[in-house]
Amino acid sequence: MYVLTLTDTEQRLVLQPGETILAALERYRYRMRRSCRNGVCEICQVQLLQGDVQQRYPAERFSGPGVRVLACTAVALSDLHILIEGLEMPGVLAVKKVVCEITQTEKLNHDVYRIRLQLPATGSHAVEYYAGQYLNILLPSGKQASFSIASAPDMGRDIELHIRHMAESEMSSAIVEHLLNNPSVEVELPQGDCYLQATGMKDDTQLVLVAASTGFAQVKSMVEHLLANQHHNPIHIYWGARSQEDFYLDDLPEQWAREHTHVTTTRVVEEAAADWSGSVGLLPQVVLSDIDDFSNTLVIGAGSPGMVYALLDVCEEAGMSEAQMKSDVFAYAPRPKK
Ligand code: FES
Repeated sequence: MYVLTLTDTEQRLVLQPGETILAALERYRYRMRRSCRNGVCEICQVQLLQGDVQQRYPAERFSGPGVRVLACTAVALSDLHILIEGLEMPGVLAVKKVVCEITQTEKLNHDVYRIRLQLPATGSHAVEYYAGQYLNILLPSGKQASFSIASAPDMGRDIELHIRHMAESEMSSAIVEHLLNNPSVEVELPQGDCYLQATGMKDDTQLVLVAASTGFAQVKSMVEHLLANQHHNPIHIYWGARSQEDFYLDDLPEQWAREHTHVTTTRVVEEAAADWSGSVGLLPQVVLSDIDDFSNTLVIGAGSPGMVYALLDVCEEAGMSEAQMKSDVFAYAPRPKK
């Protein structure tokens, strides 16, 4: 077996006998430009800096340095050093700006809109994201704002956003006005490192997903991704709002709980009407009153910095370590270490 060295990263991959360069890269979960996979389109050219290869089609033997070979049909005859433009590392998704079609707009309650977008079909370099990541909406005026993706990546090109219109905010009004009155919008994605991947997740990890207001979008993406991949981790959802009328999507979390015995859901309001049957209080305190054992637990905080850090503090007091909690807040609003 020969060793393939990627010269710009110094990563070394072991090539199986008779394996093409492209097949080896994909086995290691790298991603590169490719289309026909049979030596015709030539989109998969790489630069051979050192070593010998046999290209199957067009059939030809090449020796480095400096020649270009087709990764989809080239097989190593020695150890190789190659340079690949635009190679994407395993697990790292490329951030792309794309124009999406706005396929549906719908008002879900007094100030939250559901916006459905369709990502463009971009062939071998389709846009991808992980459950829980967010995107930036880029307006023609140069204004931009971030929104969690509410759909699971398992939905393919269809993306859902939950956008709260804050009438007092010029930015919020500009975003909503554009989305309601235009056929398309430019977005930049994926963003954020608070996400879940069903593959590789241990089945016995308890998930505590805590969302305030439209932070529910991030939770929805994660839950739908785990359910789509038949994961049975215990999932406890806490969704908080100021009052009952701030919720939306009818009883979606309750439906998950009815249909999946490993899912529980609790709605929490700060101000309760007489007919309210959920919990009343502040989200962190309600979570803490329910969960007394944080071992083998991952907590997701989707909300304002105030809520997320209050949640972190009460969970740490109950024995959780900071490493057991993920939130986008930690990246965009870091606080000094204690
Ligand atoms: S993918 Fe078309 S030539 Fe390699």
